[in-house]
Amino acid sequence: MHVVLGVGGGIAAYKAAELVRALQTRGHQVQVVMTQAAQEFVRPLTFSALTGQRVITGLWPQDSDPGELSSAVEHIAVAQQSEVLIVAPATADLVAKFATGLADDFLSTLYLAFTGTTILAAAMNTAMWQHPATRQNLDTLRTRGCLIVEPDEGWLACGTLGAGRLPDPVRIAEYLDSVTHHKRDLEGEVVLVTAGPTQEPIDPVRYISNRSSGKMGYAIAEAAAHRGARVILVSGPVKIAPPHSVETIQVRTAHEMRTAVMEHLAEATIIIKAAAVADYFVSEIPKQKLKKTATRLSLELDPTPDILAEVGQRKGDRLLIGFAAETQNLMEEARRKMASKNCDMVVANLVNQDGLGFESDQNEVEIITRAGQRTHVGPADKTEIAEKILDQVASLHLSLRV
Ligand SMILES: Cc1cc2nc3c(=O)[nH]c(=O)nc-3n(C[C@H](O)[C@H](O)[C@H](O)COP(=O)(O)O)c2cc1C
Repeated sequence: MHVVLGVGGGIAAYKAAELVRALQTRGHQVQVVMTQAAQEFVRPLTFSALTGQRVITGLWPQDSDPGELSSAVEHIAVAQQSEVLIVAPATADLVAKFATGLADDFLSTLYLAFTGTTILAAAMNTAMWQHPATRQNLDTLRTRGCLIVEPDEGWLACGTLGAGRLPDPVRIAEYLDSVTHHKRDLEGEVVLVTAGPTQEPIDPVRYISNRSSGKMGYAIAEAAAHRGARVILVSGPVKIAPPHSVETIQVRTAHEMRTAVMEHLAEATIIIKAAAVADYFVSEIPKQKLKKTATRLSLELDPTPDILAEVGQRKGDRLLIGFAAETQNLMEEARRKMASKNCDMVVANLVNQDGLGFESDQNEVEIITRAGQRTHVGPADKTEIAEKILDQVASLHLSLRV
């Protein structure tokens, strides 16, 4: 595969040399592009020696070596020749540039001209990583299809302990393989994914809901589309934009989610129920806002429809994957769900671990099949978890068809 490796101006730039090696040992051809700031940390000579190729260090001929320019519009030529763009380290500055569409150097211009798979391996100080501007920029890039390899936690060069270290270069190279190798293994399938929470109104202005962000379901929907499936995403209210190439149906309540799922059940071949559907709702919603009084208020709640159980009953030979988010007795609950809802696979996760699960970009899950096979995944970025879940889904689907 033709890979462009963009090296940003961060302390971890030296690790990009190891990444070149890791990519080469997997059979990839690597063209290195360095930003001006990256060259303050590592010399282009390191990369040209490793790749045997000229390193691209600037947009203008005088910045590079005019005598060896392969094309007058080199950023377009490189964009067209390459299948994958990996940026490592992706600095806060590069993430911001990509999110806003700035094109004032070779790498940012190449990013805009490039239409293949883009993987950003971010590395920066923890406060920079957690800054709302960086979070928002990353969310924007995710919704535009960029794959983000989250930084590792540990001691950083700036002397602080926290998230921000560039992941092991071998892990980045493996991630590239996991997102590109199986790409079309869901071709011809119709994958129905549910995601996010539901909101159950209790009066015209208030509702009961939960902390689900929808990130896991959205990552699965996007990954399934990348693998060639037609994807129908039924989503509760979330703050993230729908992925490209996915038909998204927005719903609010458990009843609306049930209606949307049942409407599309017939056309689906694989159903992945990642939504955190409310278990109870208020059946008689007052027309006016409830007034605050000094006395205790009781809400009468009725159970919501059990969508997973109903799909389990009506699924026929479709593949059904349920999610079990628990705070205790995870495996027992996952097995109970598998049997009582007629699931083929359950993805179980503990939601009371710090920094994982609900609202987080990371997760740690146990994938259990009906045959009793168990696979532990994570802690890892939800995009990586989504790929691992779909690996299992694709192989189970294949084994049931033969
Ligand atoms: C010693 C030093 C280390 C730095 N390390 C990082 C880093 O790890 N991550 C980051 O986002 N920025 C880091 N910066 C800031 C970037 O170098 C700066 O924002 C630069 O403009 C990024 O350029 P780029 O867009 O070419 O990556 C560092 C700066 C210095 C002086």
